[in-house]
Amino acid sequence: MRVFVAGGTGVIGRRIVRQLVGRGHEVVGLARGADKQDLIRRLGGTPVGGDLFDAASLAPAMAGCDVAVRAATSIPTKSRTRRSDFAMNDRIRTEGTRAMLRAASDARVPAYVHESIVWAVGPPDGTPFDEDAPPRPGADVRATLAGERIAREEGARHGIDTAILRCGTIYSADAAHTRTIGERLARRALPVIGDGSALWSMIHADDVAGAFVTATERPRSGVWHIVDDRPARVGELFEDLARRLGAAPPRRVPTWLAMLIGGSLTVQILTTSFPTSSARFRRDFGWRPRFPTTREGLDQVLDAWREEGFPRRRR
Ligand SMILES: NC(=O)c1ccc[n+]([C@@H]2O[C@H](COP(=O)([O-])OP(=O)(O)OC[C@H]3O[C@@H](n4cnc5c(N)ncnc54)[C@H](OP(=O)(O)O)[C@@H]3O)[C@@H](O)[C@H]2O)c1
Repeated sequence: MRVFVAGGTGVIGRRIVRQLVGRGHEVVGLARGADKQDLIRRLGGTPVGGDLFDAASLAPAMAGCDVAVRAATSIPTKSRTRRSDFAMNDRIRTEGTRAMLRAASDARVPAYVHESIVWAVGPPDGTPFDEDAPPRPGADVRATLAGERIAREEGARHGIDTAILRCGTIYSADAAHTRTIGERLARRALPVIGDGSALWSMIHADDVAGAFVTATERPRSGVWHIVDDRPARVGELFEDLARRLGAAPPRRVPTWLAMLIGGSLTVQILTTSFPTSSARFRRDFGWRPRFPTTREGLDQVLDAWREEGFPRRRR
């Protein structure tokens, strides 16, 4: 297959490109600048220029492709985030998606794979949910839901098979958020908020890429959740990671204090439960995660960090 990947230089995209190439596919990767072009080449792909928000610039790059994949995101990595910090990410999920599908239609690409997040939907009480759960009402997921709707509607309008892959919280040794959490737990600078009982559905970045490759190889329309086998409690997850890093257990702070220190959006992220399962993706595609729980996934993360000497000990 010939596959166009937007975001192929990122944490998720690099893995998608590498795995696709490893399975004998030809990959065309959108690259912004010479160093990113080199990276796509090193991963075994062919770099192409283009503007994610300009369909006319993407269509020639997609010529002859069987599938177009959007793995590009721009998620802020600083620890105290505001809604406005997500403006570029929102734009990628909405305008970027529209441009990708317009270009795919112009270039006669018959299939599209779309990145989304599981916590865009779910019941307000934090109980387990599946792909049919109602949308969450908050402003934080509005653009994500709009992006899904654009993908679905434009895909149907142009006759393009559109797979929406909603991922759980992605982690890996090289993911900025995982590194921030590890580095702050090592300094005992990341507390558990409240009783730490929020349940997160997680997924290792290698398994995200595996799911994207699976959906790319067997195009069809639908929405699927990409998570591992067991949601993790945030408090236990932080304690486990701190222990593995040889750090003291994280402090516990009440929610009101965490609001003052970290801001309401950070507190909301750390205290929201989104337990879901990938049963539908397993059933429809026969996929299995390589890291069934964070126990196995963090073994791999910690091995990689040890080799790299991360996090550095402060004197
Ligand atoms: N479900 C989740 O938990 C979830 C979902 C997504 C991301 N994340 C987290 O967010 C962090 C980032 O992961 P990631 O791979 O999505 O992001 P990343 O490593 O920051 O890579 C983002 C990718 O999107 C591209 N991109 C960004 N803005 C673009 C634009 N305007 N036009 C074209 N391409 C653009 C980047 O290209 P350049 O290399 O040219 O900048 C890069 O290829 C990680 O820590 C990951 O764990 C989490």
